[in-house]
Amino acid sequence: MSETLHQPIAPGTDIIAEINRLRQEMNAVILAHFYQEPEIQDIADVVGDSLALSQRAAETDAEVIVFAGVHFMAETAKILNPHKQVLLPDLDAGCSLADGCPPNEFREFISMHPGHKVISYINCSAETKAMSDMICTSGNALRIVESFPADQPLIFAPDRYLGGWVNKTLGRDMVLWPGSCEVHETFSEKKLVELKVIYPEAQVAAHPECPESVLQHADHVGSTASILNFAKTTDAMQIIVVTESGILHQMQKENPGKELIPVPGADETCNCNECPYMKMNTLEKLYLCMRDRTPEIVVDPDLAAKALAPINRMLDLSR
Ligand code: 13P
Ligand code: SF4
Repeated sequence: MSETLHQPIAPGTDIIAEINRLRQEMNAVILAHFYQEPEIQDIADVVGDSLALSQRAAETDAEVIVFAGVHFMAETAKILNPHKQVLLPDLDAGCSLADGCPPNEFREFISMHPGHKVISYINCSAETKAMSDMICTSGNALRIVESFPADQPLIFAPDRYLGGWVNKTLGRDMVLWPGSCEVHETFSEKKLVELKVIYPEAQVAAHPECPESVLQHADHVGSTASILNFAKTTDAMQIIVVTESGILHQMQKENPGKELIPVPGADETCNCNECPYMKMNTLEKLYLCMRDRTPEIVVDPDLAAKALAPINRMLDLSR
């Protein structure tokens, strides 16, 4: 656990006005993921999926990047911008996929599969990226895997469900690292089927981090951005949403007349469809990280240079 000590916020501070003032003063861009709290999404310069946010991080001419997302996202922004300051409101905002792929074990896993190229989902550490030939996101995974010849043996890490969905969709047999997202793997097939019975006209949109048992019931599988696009373009007036509930904010704004039905986690006594890491960021912490210019993302320059090559290959293939 890392703790950033901030002086308290002065009573009466208008946090939104202060964030806007600091954004100008620092020449900062605020990037936010669709799973962030609504008030963070609403104040951000860009709200997007992992792919769009990495593309915007690569292009920005702002001097400071304030990343309202989780650590691997801010770390990717830093790797793309080694000379810029990258701030993350809460340094403990991690990801179970990134944490579930320790670099030493992953190095050994690669050595057990000679002749394989390594594709890593962007939800991983800089160390894992540095061991990879190519990075992908859920928004471009199919295109990225297809860019490798069909007879090229591949390792896919760290999400076994995303990798399994790509294998099935493209008829590949990539070797999968056994990682998973603790939020998406708890969506229950039983709950989803119950909702389909209650709402027979509804279409189901699911994120590919969900297990195959859930994905088999989906009308659309894709990244957060593609789920939002599906919700806008489908004729259905009811959409069952199988991903983190933060996405409902943009979805409701874009589809005021549609009924959005979030699937709860398997255990209804918890908010299992909320990512505990994404939700560590608050508007107050966003303000504090800008006011105090900390916590800041630091990546060893040699490691960053190694991790940059496979990220750039992904960005080149995603234009
Ligand atoms: P997207 O790339 O679809 O935004 O997903 C990121 C993520 O962490 C999903 O859990
Ligand atoms: Fe990681 Fe899952 Fe949270 Fe996305 S929802 S950041 S994959 S733990």
